[in-house]
Amino acid sequence: MRRRSEEHSRDWSELRNRIIGLGEQSSHKNYYSELKARLRELEESRRSLAAANASLQAVMDAATEVAIIATSPDGTITIFNQGAENLLGYRAEELIGTATVLLFHLPLEVEQRGAELSAQYSHTVTGFQTFIESTEHGHAEKREWTYICKDGRYLQVELVVTAIRGENGVINGYLGVAQDITERKQAEASLRRMNLDLEEARQATEKLNRLLEQRISEALVDIRHKDRLLIQQGRQAAMGEMISNIAHQWRQPLNNIALLIQNLQLLCNSGELSPQQCDQDVAKALEIIQFMSGTINNFRNIFRQDATPQRFSVNQAVAKIVDFLAAGMTGHGITVSCVEKEEVSITGYPGEYHQALINILNNAREALLFRAVPKALIRITIFKEQGQGVVTVWDNGGGIDAAILPKIFDPYFTTKFKSQGTGLGLFMAKAIIENSMQGRLTARNINGGAELRIEVSSPETVSGRPVSA
Ligand SMILES: Nc1ncnc2c1ncn2[C@@H]1O[C@H](COP(=O)(O)OP(=O)(O)OP(=O)(O)O)[C@@H](O)[C@H]1O
Ligand SMILES: [Mg+2]
Repeated sequence: MRRRSEEHSRDWSELRNRIIGLGEQSSHKNYYSELKARLRELEESRRSLAAANASLQAVMDAATEVAIIATSPDGTITIFNQGAENLLGYRAEELIGTATVLLFHLPLEVEQRGAELSAQYSHTVTGFQTFIESTEHGHAEKREWTYICKDGRYLQVELVVTAIRGENGVINGYLGVAQDITERKQAEASLRRMNLDLEEARQATEKLNRLLEQRISEALVDIRHKDRLLIQQGRQAAMGEMISNIAHQWRQPLNNIALLIQNLQLLCNSGELSPQQCDQDVAKALEIIQFMSGTINNFRNIFRQDATPQRFSVNQAVAKIVDFLAAGMTGHGITVSCVEKEEVSITGYPGEYHQALINILNNAREALLFRAVPKALIRITIFKEQGQGVVTVWDNGGGIDAAILPKIFDPYFTTKFKSQGTGLGLFMAKAIIENSMQGRLTARNINGGAELRIEVSSPETVSGRPVSA
């Protein structure tokens, strides 16, 4: 543009000098003065055109961040602004009027785009036509291209191409405005890389999670299996407990039956057995056997396995267990007192609840016996607190050593000799209360003894009905 305006200015001065020369020779002074006025006007418009051109050039040169490249209709470069020089490393003088934009385009890219446009518009599009084909169909083309700089570097640019039309709509040339997007592209590429890395990390984490989940579920299966084994062992211990209780309960009645039988034999041998005496002793023996059979039923119910949760009275459960263990307590001089502050009902598995109570009461008995406590006492208290049905079992056996207090619920933790304790009693009791019945089992030392506290939710109503104990 700079060169064009210089050429234009030279042509104009020449013409002006020639007209002035003509006027001086002419006899038609009027015509000459009119010509002079016209000349002034033309001079004026030339100056303003030159000023406009200069400011347009200044604007284009000021745009150092964007490359503005104009071409003739055949693609020859006509404008190459400062931004274009900065971007591509060519000087405007090197290219204007001699080179086309294909000079700094990647041929393969032009070829590929040409093929696309050829397919789109059903005619062959190659070379410079590739950049202007879309403008001929009425829209400006905005695309990313690779520019090859004078020094051989590659740049990513975003190029907008528009047609320059004259007053009559005829295309005078084309204008391309290109912006360097190399950095943006690099940033995008590194963002993509980061995203890929992130995705990889996410997949790795997911894989790890799946592996962990699998390990956890395997571990859970293993734990459940061990739990079942422990509970099985606990049941066997409870069966042993039951057998020894039955044996204890039966000792007296069995003696009585033996006495009756011996008596019958004596009377029979001496010939003194009357039919009435026989009937009477047989009836007595049958009554005793009836009682013994009742004991078995009672005890069997204590360990009944319920498939579904039942609503049951805590007071009755405690009474049954106190009765069940009575022989082992009173026989060793241990007093068991039960303070029932109120009637408490809970929902859960009574058989398992009985089991937990037995384990806790047996521990109290064993502590009292081991420490040979005089006036040994176990006090059971039943009450409600903040919607919980609470049973506390306290003994005056001296309490649990503070150092072992945090471990007493661990499986196989025992301070007793092997033959006397497995260390499963409290572990099982906790599993029953906390896992099966969503309650809490805790222990503390208070008033010179240990206190085990069982809490299980005891709502005032069940399914909208008031609770009857
Ligand atoms: N009332 C208590 N007083 C003192 N120590 C207790 C009391 N209850 C529990 N312990 C302590 O807690 C330990 C663990 O009790 P746990 O019932 O789990 O096992 P264990 O009684 O040793 O054996 P078992 O499996 O036969 O019941 C006991 O060995 C004992 O040291
Ligand atoms: Mg125990």
